[in-house]
Amino acid sequence: MQTTSDLIWQDTQHQVLFVLIERIKEVPFDPDILTQLKLYAEHHFTLEEAYMVALDYPLKDEHIETHDRFREELAAMLETDPSMHVALQVSLSDFLHKWLKLHVLGIDKELEDFVLKSSAK
Ligand SMILES: [Fe+2]
Ligand SMILES: [Fe+2]
Repeated sequence: MQTTSDLIWQDTQHQVLFVLIERIKEVPFDPDILTQLKLYAEHHFTLEEAYMVALDYPLKDEHIETHDRFREELAAMLETDPSMHVALQVSLSDFLHKWLKLHVLGIDKELEDFVLKSSAK
């Protein structure tokens, strides 16, 4: 994935998320991969949200709402067992990849700009 942010922590974490999402397609399916993704996504979202709170970021609520949608999608996926269907692995991975790409190149860029202009970078 191309560089997503000039904030090194933010870009590094996005790259890890893309790698984990790609691994959902691996055959045989790794039964722990969705849990690993959930834990790492939580780690990443929590850090972004901590910056938003600390900097009193004006778009905080709508940004956190989008994180919450992703949390819900992942929680629903954890209820499934994609291991029987490669096509399902691919569709879950593609869905998450598209969501993350839109998020990091959209709403996350606004946060990045705000953090870079602040004293907290
Ligand atoms: Fe992000
Ligand atoms: Fe975000």
